[in-house]
Amino acid sequence: MTKPVKGFSKRSKKEKVSWIIDTFFQNNIDAEKIIKKYWNEDEKLQQLHDEFIENTITNYYLPFGVAPNFLINGTLHTIPMAIEESSVVAAASKAAKFWYDRGGFTTEVLGTTKIGQVHFLYEGCTKKLTAFFKQVVPKLLSSTQSITQNMEKRGGGITGITLKDKTDKLDNYYQIHCEFETLDAMGANFINSCLEQFAKTLKQEALLFDDFSNTEKNISIVMSILSNFTPNCLVKASVSCPVSDLKIGDISGEEFAQKFITAVKIAEIEPYRAVTHNKGIMNGIDAVVLATGNDFRAIEAGVHAYAAKGGQYKSLTHANIENGIFKFWIELPLALGTVGGLTKLHPLVKLALEILQKPNAKELMQIVAVAGLAQNFGALHSLTTTGIQKGHMKMHLMNILNQLGATKSEKTTIAAYFEGKTVTHSNVVTKFNEVRG
Ligand code: MEV
Repeated sequence: MTKPVKGFSKRSKKEKVSWIIDTFFQNNIDAEKIIKKYWNEDEKLQQLHDEFIENTITNYYLPFGVAPNFLINGTLHTIPMAIEESSVVAAASKAAKFWYDRGGFTTEVLGTTKIGQVHFLYEGCTKKLTAFFKQVVPKLLSSTQSITQNMEKRGGGITGITLKDKTDKLDNYYQIHCEFETLDAMGANFINSCLEQFAKTLKQEALLFDDFSNTEKNISIVMSILSNFTPNCLVKASVSCPVSDLKIGDISGEEFAQKFITAVKIAEIEPYRAVTHNKGIMNGIDAVVLATGNDFRAIEAGVHAYAAKGGQYKSLTHANIENGIFKFWIELPLALGTVGGLTKLHPLVKLALEILQKPNAKELMQIVAVAGLAQNFGALHSLTTTGIQKGHMKMHLMNILNQLGATKSEKTTIAAYFEGKTVTHSNVVTKFNEVRG
């Protein structure tokens, strides 16, 4: 067991690396080489990455790919994706092409409201608190003026503020529940700054409220924080086409559509399946969210909460046939930003946003929703026809060959051999040994 280390964050990067090597690798030079191999030779760029977090010792790469041919509301997009899972970009590109030939994707932003709360304890009469709150709202709002003025100039700001009595769930527990419009910013800093100011003002003003007893004056602020549950920051994306246009190889359009719709319905009623179904959607969503410098943990948390909003975890996508037209759509919350955060700092994030032709937050919400819908279409297409392993293993072939240390020419020979054949780990090993002799 290692001993606790004191003052680690104060050490230089070199000292931190030395400590890691001494402690975990018994001075193994290879470990140090790996760490240093991923340092960027551009010192400024490296420093930028070093300063994103504390105790940086190296960089961790993810592949950054693009999926072209996404026709969204009549405009073509190439979608950047940062992800390690081998089949995701390929599946997205395939689905993009499939729907390009059938009219593309249609999208719509249904809302952009974000939420934040001040959680506090108040021991006393609820009626008095309600009267106090009514009186103090203008003061709460004016106390945040210096924080909100720029956002207001651009058309955003605080759009709602209410008192919520939660004492039926937890003794003495109330909230100031706030709604925000943060325009192109994800808005976490803006929202949290407003909330912390509300908390301060609430506490100060309570001390001055004559109707309160001494106990009532003593409001206890527990915390002030935005919510990542954003059910009204919502976007919808859909595709549709005549059922007959879904004919795939030997499978008729009707047969494909019926099986596909049944697969979606299973995910609407069966949580075990719904979680995997939605995981596949998040393969597409997270990859774009990450490439564009947004907070994928926030998106994940909000999306899964939305999937469970009715009390049972369900599919985020839906499908039906009406009058011979197959329709497939997704509706999900996506609190995204295209300004602030990493968007001005990370060169690859800037590049990703440029590939997307500098979208605003609403446009990015629509693009990301499309990536999720396309990914789900790709997964269900494979699952209900060939099975998922065919495509997965084809894409995984390079990973297996890399693990085996195959050379470039061995890879070419083996990849050619597996064209149209079933890829399994043991088949690849056998072929590799044969090629290597
Ligand atoms: C794998 O990353 C994602 C899938 O499991 C999604 C699904 O089952 O719908 C293929």
